[in-house]
Amino acid sequence: MASFLLGICLLFIEPRLVPSMPTSNTKNYTSSHLSNEEQSKKATVEGTLRYVVHLNGTSQYLPHTIIIGVRKGGTRALLEMLSLHSDIAAAENEIHFFDWEKQYQHGVKWYLGQMPFSYPHQLTVEKTPAYFTSLEVPKRIHRMNSTIKLLLILRDPIERVLSDYTQVFYNHKQKNKSYPPAEELLLKNNELNTDYKAINRSLYEHYMEHWLKYFPLENIHIVDGDLLIRDPFPEMQKVERFLNLSPQINASNFYFNKTKGFYCLRDGGRDRCLHESKGRAHPQISTFLLGKLRDYFYKPNKKFFELVGRTFDWL
Ligand SMILES: *[C@@H]1O[C@H](CO)[C@@H](O)[C@H](O)[C@H]1NC(C)=O
Ligand SMILES: *[C@@H]1O[C@H](CO)[C@@H](O)[C@H](O)[C@H]1NC(C)=O
Ligand SMILES: *[C@@H]1O[C@H](CO)[C@@H](O)[C@H](O)[C@H]1NC(C)=O
Ligand SMILES: *[C@@H]1O[C@H](CO)[C@@H](O)[C@H](O)[C@H]1NC(C)=O
Ligand SMILES: *[C@@H]1O[C@H](CO)[C@@H](O)[C@H](O)[C@H]1NC(C)=O
Ligand SMILES: *[C@@H]1O[C@H](CO)[C@@H](O)[C@H](O)[C@H]1NC(C)=O
Ligand SMILES: *[C@@H]1O[C@H](CO)[C@@H](O)[C@H](O)[C@H]1NC(C)=O
Repeated sequence: MASFLLGICLLFIEPRLVPSMPTSNTKNYTSSHLSNEEQSKKATVEGTLRYVVHLNGTSQYLPHTIIIGVRKGGTRALLEMLSLHSDIAAAENEIHFFDWEKQYQHGVKWYLGQMPFSYPHQLTVEKTPAYFTSLEVPKRIHRMNSTIKLLLILRDPIERVLSDYTQVFYNHKQKNKSYPPAEELLLKNNELNTDYKAINRSLYEHYMEHWLKYFPLENIHIVDGDLLIRDPFPEMQKVERFLNLSPQINASNFYFNKTKGFYCLRDGGRDRCLHESKGRAHPQISTFLLGKLRDYFYKPNKKFFELVGRTFDWL
């Protein structure tokens, strides 16, 4: 007990310098994010360190915001750029809590355990791009937090299809497997093969309509993924405002890498670029196929613009 009190005292003096003690420091929890039932359960479980406040003041919190997608929309770039902000604590991996049945069955406590340690003033964020197109997800997130703020990053649906194809192509290649050329998968008897999953995933209107049954539009901020690639700073300013973060990310956090053809990040003198698997060249497709794709997405795109009261450079 004495050492515990000492810890508390030190905490007030210099939170960051106090080493955490691997202990029965279970006397105090961050109570704000757990129900009474959960707290009492916790007390009976051994080694539940992660549910306590570390002596440096960090703990785990359920996400305040989730990047819900879309696959190949630029979710990793968005998360990395958001992490430039000191008030953001981002989960490293895609958690797939709400879309993978097995994970969901683990319960919210398990989900909480996947979150990074953060200070109370920080916002926790996780990203799982598959959430956007998984129909059972909105209801589940709503059940956890009906006022949560959601981030959705979208690209031109046709670009997204080709990027999706490219990723699957390389995934196969990595496993030493072949994958058919794009034209072969996207066309069937000279018509667009709308059974191809990647095409369906670009029907943003279909999925957005479903999300809007659970969340008001003002709680879903759409990041323009094409703009984020071309000029990240203004898009990130909008994200900061949406999340009520202090304006901290600035233009000097980004620099253009000519070799890569993309912006890289400068974080307090540390430079980092996205993984080389990002921003791969897409396959060349025929004007015939491109025309088919344009025709197909024209109406859904228009409907999407109406749905969200905003237009994008996709037509
Ligand atoms: C706080 O303490 C925990 C446990 O030792 C450690 O994992 C974490 O990195 C610390 N966080 C900071 C910001 O010092
Ligand atoms: C536990 O933490 C809360 C909030 O930080 C604090 O008000 C309370 O005094 C602490 N309780 C104990 C037993 O240290
Ligand atoms: C739900 O999310 C909102 C927005 O981030 C946050 O202010 C609120 O504290 C969250 N509620 C719970 C119960 O986590
Ligand atoms: C895998 O790749 C190696 C090297 O390119 C090749 O020699 C081998 O035949 C491939 N194996 C299969 C099963 O395709
Ligand atoms: C796209 O997939 C969703 C979910 O699987 C399905 O409900 C919808 O009917 C599909 N849309 C089209 C146009 O095939
Ligand atoms: C931009 O942010 C960095 C910290 O990320 C800071 O060092 C720098 O002074 C800022 N520049 C401007 C022009 O505000
Ligand atoms: C620019 O990108 C290239 C290729 O990805 C990489 O090798 C290089 O380190 C990057 N340079 C800087 C300054 O980020």
